[in-house]
Amino acid sequence: MSYDINKIRQEFPILNRKVYGKPLVYFDNGATTQKPNSVISSINKVYKDINSNIHRGVHFLSAQSTDAYENARRVVKEFINAEHIHEIVFTSGTTASINLVAFSFGEKYISEGDEIIVSSMEHHSNIVPWQMLCERKNAKLKVIPFNEKGDLLIEEFKILLSEKTKLVAINHVSNTLGTINPVKEIINLAHKKNIPVLIDGAQAVQHITVNIQELDADFYAFSGHKIYGPTGIGVLYGKEKYLNTMPPYMGGGDMIKTVSFEKTTYNDLPFKFEAGTANYTGAIGLAEALNFVSSIGISNIRAHEKALLDYGTMKLSEIESLIIYGNSNNKTGAISFLLDNIHHSDVGMILDKMGVAVRTGNHCTQPVMDKFNITGTVRASFAMYNTKQEIDILFESLNKILEMFS
Ligand code: ALA
Repeated sequence: MSYDINKIRQEFPILNRKVYGKPLVYFDNGATTQKPNSVISSINKVYKDINSNIHRGVHFLSAQSTDAYENARRVVKEFINAEHIHEIVFTSGTTASINLVAFSFGEKYISEGDEIIVSSMEHHSNIVPWQMLCERKNAKLKVIPFNEKGDLLIEEFKILLSEKTKLVAINHVSNTLGTINPVKEIINLAHKKNIPVLIDGAQAVQHITVNIQELDADFYAFSGHKIYGPTGIGVLYGKEKYLNTMPPYMGGGDMIKTVSFEKTTYNDLPFKFEAGTANYTGAIGLAEALNFVSSIGISNIRAHEKALLDYGTMKLSEIESLIIYGNSNNKTGAISFLLDNIHHSDVGMILDKMGVAVRTGNHCTQPVMDKFNITGTVRASFAMYNTKQEIDILFESLNKILEMFS
């Protein structure tokens, strides 16, 4: 299929906005993506046509919203090619998914002296829940280092893996460096020692094909809002064999079978992990987003974003005093950089006035900043609707900033 960028852009109404009288160049997609019309109208449709609490009512509307919610689960299952629909748990986002595993898996499987392996390029949300677990259980966190290019040192990982390791938690794609980590290799190495692996896919599912059965990940977490869906909805994929043996994370409605003061019994998967009224509107919107992505094709999106990455890297490298952090040969479309000795926030704020939205700061990855001995970067992260012309605007704007500071 030919990639019709104009047609794609037309589906995203916010891209027509002007900021400070200038056309919006939205390069903060790693933080959140914009939403296509189909997602916006699906949310509208829920509230206009079918709104009713799910799994609870005997009435017409409740049946319709329940069907739409459970259909959304099916769409997620198919999108990531999970084996079973009950392995898909809806959460509020990647952070909630990882915390669920840290508490529930941690409760059952982690004891004093055990070790959990993460990497030094994790987002804080794939570090802190494990640190909290280690504190509770008197366990240890081990860290895989990465090199100057932004590639994980797999040989070091092999050394860290031991009979004490009870879980490996690793991001599929680094939000700061853009590195696509060799998760399949990591999973194979861990599985040889019967160690389960959690993959933080928050920066992956929107850019590259994720086939859970092929990867053989034991847990996989991602957020709706980073893949063109609504905020406040996310997914935890978990292998049945683990989810079945893990205790519930939160107690409340929908996660129980029977309640009495003597004994409460818990619901079947996936409801055991979905206490309280689920964000059915978000799940329905997420399904629309995944259908939208599928209709374009993730491999077409990948090819488009890779072309943007190559072009952006080439253009930005023309600026002598610009340093790019994260130069792996295997990257998604995220470019973190510093311009001369100008503070990243200054660059970000001036770019904003020029209509270019980027993220600045440590990107919730302070260990990555420590590795490079910097406090932050400017990050331009691309999505399916970005163009080379927009990269030209970024390039020209950066040159203007250099002139201003010279
Ligand atoms: N984790 C998101 C980012 O990288 C917010 O921007």
